[in-house]
Amino acid sequence: MHIAIVGTGYVGLVTGACFAEFGVSVTCVDKDEQKIAALQAGRPTIYEPGLETLISKGLREGRLKFTTNLREAVEQSLVIFIAVGTPSAEDGAADLSQVEEVAEQIGKYLNGYKVIVTKSTVPAGTGAMVRRIIGENAKCRFSVASNPEFLREGAAIEDFMRPDRIVIGCSDPEAIAILKDLYSPLYLIDIPFVITSVETAELIKYASNAFLATKISFINEMSILCDRLGCDVYDVARAMGLDRRIGPEFLHPGPGYGGSCFPKDTRALYHLGRTLGCDLKIVNAVIEVNTRQQERMIEKIVAILDGEVHGKKVGVLGLAFKPNTDDIRESPAIYIVSRLVALGAIVKATDPAAIEPASRVLTDVTFCKDEYETAEGTELLVFLTEWNKYRKLDFEKIKSLMQRPAIADLRNIYEPDYLKRLGFAYVGVGR
Ligand code: UGA
Repeated sequence: MHIAIVGTGYVGLVTGACFAEFGVSVTCVDKDEQKIAALQAGRPTIYEPGLETLISKGLREGRLKFTTNLREAVEQSLVIFIAVGTPSAEDGAADLSQVEEVAEQIGKYLNGYKVIVTKSTVPAGTGAMVRRIIGENAKCRFSVASNPEFLREGAAIEDFMRPDRIVIGCSDPEAIAILKDLYSPLYLIDIPFVITSVETAELIKYASNAFLATKISFINEMSILCDRLGCDVYDVARAMGLDRRIGPEFLHPGPGYGGSCFPKDTRALYHLGRTLGCDLKIVNAVIEVNTRQQERMIEKIVAILDGEVHGKKVGVLGLAFKPNTDDIRESPAIYIVSRLVALGAIVKATDPAAIEPASRVLTDVTFCKDEYETAEGTELLVFLTEWNKYRKLDFEKIKSLMQRPAIADLRNIYEPDYLKRLGFAYVGVGR
């Protein structure tokens, strides 16, 4: 089967490379010529473990192609995925202009029956809009479907190959059969398929992300109580998570969720509710708690610096919004570092992958090659991303390098008692 993926961002690229691995002939399309040239040369334009190998293999074996020619890709394909960006507009709504533009072009280039599938995260009702736009431009029969992705950055290939579920939103049996066939390697290993309406599939994606964000904001809220009561939020989360109805995942307190999905999707879901006359109170509270959590982190830092940030030397470990990615979009670390700089701190920072993107948005920060260079001469070391390489640091060395041994462990990487015993002033989140 030939398929096209329009948009070679995170979702499009991973999806294309993984379908090629399934044996499908995939053409990935993007209007960015530089991106396409890099991908044609086998150089991934994003940092994702395992992706480079899949792209090289797909290119070498002739199942994966990259092009800027949308017309040709559409004409050759039975299934066309729309995987372009849906960023937040000013008012928090999802900006669908790229989806609209691509739908119009696909409509013009249709040369026979095809299934057009939205993979981008879009509000319920977008599939109907895509159907209308394509219908206005097309001269042949087509089907529209929604097939949301549930890929985590840093684990996207594994998530694609072994997902918890595949959601297909479509009302047309012919298109459903084609999509099931496309996903047959997953069907054969008993991955559950949820076949539903286009609108329901679109909502499933937002509901899933909003629920995960809710778990994070909930435990972050509990961490405030733990700070006040002297309880250990880690034990609270662990004991809660052992209840199978709750589950252990997404109960790690920290500086708030970030990334390209949760912040944008919770805002878009809240906005969708408002446009439909529904005040989604939980979603709104989740967003508010997340914003407040970032402020709380600043308060913790100010407190451990004895109430004065101005002129203080602070080292920051981790800038990416989570480990195993170079993505800094809506990263709490970027917000917190910017605020520290604005408050007059002298900040040094490092990250195993995200220095380059961070240096484009953070001014007045000295970037260091590693943890020890970052710690040198500082009065406070702040952990903001829980990279594995930060889990076994030589604290004797760090203590000897620092001007004053103090740690703000905003990802709860270390046992507080361990660092206190070593002579560090310590603050964590809810413990
Ligand atoms: C998220 C979802 O997990 C994916 O299922 C979804 O497909 C994706 O969004 C998307 O919509 O495309 P991702 O943004 O890659 O994936 O990252 P997560 O691993 O979910 O983490 C998001 C944020 O929550 C990070 O800032 C992370 O540090 C934070 N987080 C996560 C916590 O603070 N606590 C936790 O317990 C878990």
